[in-house]
Amino acid sequence: MKIAVLGSGAMGCLYGGKLAEAGLNVTLIDVWKEHVDAINAHGLSVEGIGGDRVIKNIKAVTTPEEVKECDLLIVFVKATLTSQAMESARCIIGPHTSVLTLQNGLGNVEKISAVVGKEKVIAGVTGHGSTLLGPGKIRHAGQGNTVIGELDGKIDERLEAVGSVLEKGGFSVTLSNNVMGLIWGKLIVNIGINALTAVTGLKNGRLVDFSETEELLCGAVEEAMAVAKAKGISLEIGDPVEHTKKVARLTAENRSSMLQDVSNKRKTEISVINGAVVEEGVQYGVPTPINKVLYNLVSVKEKTYNEV
Ligand code: PAF
Repeated sequence: MKIAVLGSGAMGCLYGGKLAEAGLNVTLIDVWKEHVDAINAHGLSVEGIGGDRVIKNIKAVTTPEEVKECDLLIVFVKATLTSQAMESARCIIGPHTSVLTLQNGLGNVEKISAVVGKEKVIAGVTGHGSTLLGPGKIRHAGQGNTVIGELDGKIDERLEAVGSVLEKGGFSVTLSNNVMGLIWGKLIVNIGINALTAVTGLKNGRLVDFSETEELLCGAVEEAMAVAKAKGISLEIGDPVEHTKKVARLTAENRSSMLQDVSNKRKTEISVINGAVVEEGVQYGVPTPINKVLYNLVSVKEKTYNEV
C-alpha cells in the first residue's frame, strides 16, 4: 500500500512516521523545504512517547507532483489551506485512492469532497498530540484514540482496511458510524483548548490548573455544545466539558497546534474552530460571547505578528 501524507507538520509526521516505522511505504508532502531536506538527509527524528528514535525509511517531497498515485492520502494540512492543498494533490488521486482527513476544524470534509468527490473521503479525529521541534524533528507529546468513519455512516470493507493500516502503525483505532458527531466532538475539544493556550502561552495541561482558564475552557465548550444541539448534531462524547478537561490532562505536556502556530507567527486555524462556532451561532441564534472574545484575541495576535 502506497501512503502519502499531505501536510507534514507535527501531526502529519507523527502519522507518516509511525506508519513508515511499521514498514509501510510512506511519502510525506510539505511545502517547507528545509524540513523536507532534513528528513531526506537524516531521517525523521521522533522523541517523547515510544522513545527517542530516528525513522529512516521515509521519503519527503515538497510537491505532490513528485509522488505517484497513492492508495491512501492522509490529509493533515491546516484547515485554512485544505482547498488549495487538495487542488494541488489532484495528480496523486487515482480511481482507488481513499482520502482520510484527520484535521482539526470545521469544513474539511466539504472542501476535500469538492475536489475528489465525497465517495473517496473518510473522515476522523485523532487524540494524539505532537509538536514540531524543528526541521525533521517532532515530539510525540500525547496519545489517544484515532476514530474514523465513512461519510454515509457505513462500516464497510474500505473503512476496515484503512483502520487496519493505522493499527499496523501502532494507532489504536475505532470505527464510527457518526462522522459529523465525531468532528464536532473534536471541534469542541479544540474550542476549549487551542485558543486559550495560544492566548496564554500555556501547555494544554496547565489550562486546568488555574480556575480562570478552566472557567473560560468550560464556557467556550458549553457555547459550542449549545450550537451543536441547535444544529441537531449528535455528539459521541458523554460530557464534553469533562472530556475536554480530560484531553487537556492527557496531552498536558503538549503545546497545542494553535500555540505552536502563534509561537512561530503562522496563520492559525482560529477561523475554522472558535470562529466557525461563532458563525454557526449567529445562524442558529445561539450566543457565543466567549468564543467571540477568543476569536478576536487570536485574530489580533495574528495581525500583529510583525509588531511584537
Ligand atoms: O490541536 C491540537 O493541538 C490537538 O487537537 C489537541 C487535542 C488540542 C492536543 O494538543
